[in-house]
Amino acid sequence: MSPQQQVLGIIRSEHQSLGAVINALRHVFDEVARGTLTPDYKLAWSILYYIEEFPERLHHPKEDQVLFPRLRAHDPQLDTVLDALERQHANGRPYLDALKTWLGRMEAEIPGAAEEFTKRLNTYASFHDRHMADEEEIVLPRANEILTEQDWQDIAASFAENNDPLTSGTPSSSAWFRQLFRRIVTLVPEPWGVGARR
Ligand SMILES: [Fe+2]
Repeated sequence: MSPQQQVLGIIRSEHQSLGAVINALRHVFDEVARGTLTPDYKLAWSILYYIEEFPERLHHPKEDQVLFPRLRAHDPQLDTVLDALERQHANGRPYLDALKTWLGRMEAEIPGAAEEFTKRLNTYASFHDRHMADEEEIVLPRANEILTEQDWQDIAASFAENNDPLTSGTPSSSAWFRQLFRRIVTLVPEPWGVGARR
């Protein structure tokens, strides 16, 4: 596999994992709101941890610190779109903070909290889908046009460093997040995961 294919594969597969986890939460809580599924709060908090910390620690740094600066160097006209995407990376946090607040209220069975959580989760999912689509439909195709073989090699090397085995086992390593992803898939009820329905 060429460094270019490696880099594109990593970005896309991280988007897929994130998208899948956000969607799983959305589907599960749609059903909870309809009363067809019992809420599993431990699972919901694990998913919120994943969608908050995985991008922050492993995904956004690859884009903000490695890929985007290379693109800016080749094509300053990309500044506008890359500035917007970087702002969105930072703007995700208030959405997630609100989701945590409403999940906690829902767990405390505060009236109306389930509806508010579901509404905010859907808004967050749309925001995130649009963000990833812009990266995949605008940024990655442009990267294919302007980056050189050397750029791809350097980016692939930086991505590999961010996979440091010395940190494996800590809740910030890619190995730990892969394990958490597998646990989430095991716990999310069918048909969105492989867990039992309760
Ligand atoms: Fe991304």
